Amino acid sequence: MLCPVILCGGKGSRLWPMSRELYPKQFMEFLPGATLFEATLDRMTALDPGCQPIVICNEAHRFLAAEQLRSKNITGRIVLEPTGRNTAPAAALAALMTQEDDPILVVMPADHRIPDTQAFAQAIAQAASAARQGDLVCLGIAARSPETGYGYLLKGESQGNDVFNVKAFVEKPDSNTARDYVESGQYLWNSGIFLFTASRYLKALETHCPDILKACRDAMESSAPDMDFIRPEREAFMNCPSNSIDYAVLEKEKNLKVVELDTAWSDLGAWEAVHENGEQDANGNVTVGDVVAQDSNGCYLHSTGRLVATVGLEKAVVVETPDAVLVTTMNAAQNVKGMIDELVRRH
Ligand code: GDD
Ligand code: MG
Repeated sequence: MLCPVILCGGKGSRLWPMSRELYPKQFMEFLPGATLFEATLDRMTALDPGCQPIVICNEAHRFLAAEQLRSKNITGRIVLEPTGRNTAPAAALAALMTQEDDPILVVMPADHRIPDTQAFAQAIAQAASAARQGDLVCLGIAARSPETGYGYLLKGESQGNDVFNVKAFVEKPDSNTARDYVESGQYLWNSGIFLFTASRYLKALETHCPDILKACRDAMESSAPDMDFIRPEREAFMNCPSNSIDYAVLEKEKNLKVVELDTAWSDLGAWEAVHENGEQDANGNVTVGDVVAQDSNGCYLHSTGRLVATVGLEKAVVVETPDAVLVTTMNAAQNVKGMIDELVRRH
């Protein structure tokens, strides 16, 4: 039995000013046709039309999550975090909820683009067979460039069935280290999609971060159902240390496995990725809304209302919204998050 666990509690702040605290990117239609969260649901229902995902999100986004689940006719359980404590506790809540049936949890972010559903299904099936035997399994992507925002997996010996041992896991290395990894050709990026049984993950938490396990257990033991939502007890959850699965568990775990997801994959993390994944015109521009681009190349230009006009811009990002306009370069677009932190400090 596969149980999708969709993590959608992130703020998506690098995609400001479209992505906002009350309406973050995962619930927006960043690429035409569906929101990122809906596209994630579609990927899972293509695998198993009857699956009942567990959705873990911030309580502020409960109606966005509920509405989008309903639009897909999916019955899921929505767990509301009073505040984000990062991904290790979020996945712990799902594991604690399901420990009796002990399904294979397919933990995944709500903001990825994986256009090839068949390749995704194949990788999940292979990873599920390893997870069924008690392994913690990551889906990996061949590392193409020295991204510092990803985790890196050093691929070890084959275990058969396209499952490989992991010799080392390093989360978000610095740029020199990332460059060495990519040049060696032996590393995969961590896709952020993980498969394990609920009991195996709880055991890993007990070994590597018992404080997270205890806080989440306390929070779930006194959780209260509220309409269709599940609310972990606020105070206990607020006391939980904040950490990601990657730092809290994977970097410490000796017994990791990886299955390669051999297809186009993108973490739509920043404007550069949205540009890369959008439909580019003959000049390499991606334009959305009322935009006129003259002598401009390789730009992402997005208007939600007012006319955006550019002349002679190279590799720029301009995003217009009613109350804020972002102007940056493709290279600096990763740093929007730092700028938001500064804005928050000032206001
Ligand atoms: N429920 C919940 N609560 N979800 C969360 C929280 C939280 O506190 N924090 C983050 N998430 C969700 C985000 O919405 C996203 O879907 C997913 O968990 C991953 O979080 P990110 O914050 O986007 O992580 P990252 O991109 O820095 O790094 C992870 O993903 C990379 C690939 O995209 C790591 O797993 C890296 O190793 C990996 O390479
Ligand atoms: Mg991410």
